Amino acid sequence: MSNLHLIDHPLVQHKLTLMRRKDASTSTFRTLLNELSSLMAYEVTRDMPLQDVQIETPLEPMTGRMIDGKKLVLVSILRAGNGILEGMLSVVPGARVGHIGLYRDPATLQAVEYYFKMPGDMAERDIIVVDPMLATGNSAIAAIDRLKRLKPKTIKFVCLLTCPEGIAALQLAHPDVPIYTAAIDRQLNDHGYILPGLGDAGDRIFGTR
Ligand code: URA
Repeated sequence: MSNLHLIDHPLVQHKLTLMRRKDASTSTFRTLLNELSSLMAYEVTRDMPLQDVQIETPLEPMTGRMIDGKKLVLVSILRAGNGILEGMLSVVPGARVGHIGLYRDPATLQAVEYYFKMPGDMAERDIIVVDPMLATGNSAIAAIDRLKRLKPKTIKFVCLLTCPEGIAALQLAHPDVPIYTAAIDRQLNDHGYILPGLGDAGDRIFGTR
């Protein structure tokens, strides 16, 4: 489980609990998701490489350290992954954004790809794949299978919530991909939903229910 990072900062836990409540409105849910995503961005970018840069303060020249944000690609698994983008981009505004569209076949729960658009030069880039829920793991696995064909430098996976089944599936398929999550819930139900969870993340972000 060394590749599993549980982000247990009190602010993250507090906001997640508010989001889970069934009476949280769409706008409250979205606001909290933005805030939570920027807090998670701090953790997931913690080991990003820094470059020395020469600058001048009002008093004298110095060597500062900066990240090269343009090398970073946030890949959203549509559609719920889009809910994480704004908060993360507020912390790393230079990051590029890719989208991958996968739908869950309701009968098999397997992921089927319908959209794939990435920036160029993916072999130069570090990828952070975002999806609020790591449930069966099928979408995450299919997305990472596809992204690995582009031979990026690194891939990380970020979600808000997961469960033992999702972690096991993703770690079995992609043991090299670190998982960052704010909570590990009890279990999946028969429909592939996380319990206790927060319901359908896409519906809650976009108000489609
Ligand atoms: N996707 C969701 O939106 N919610 C879950 O609980 C599982 C998958």
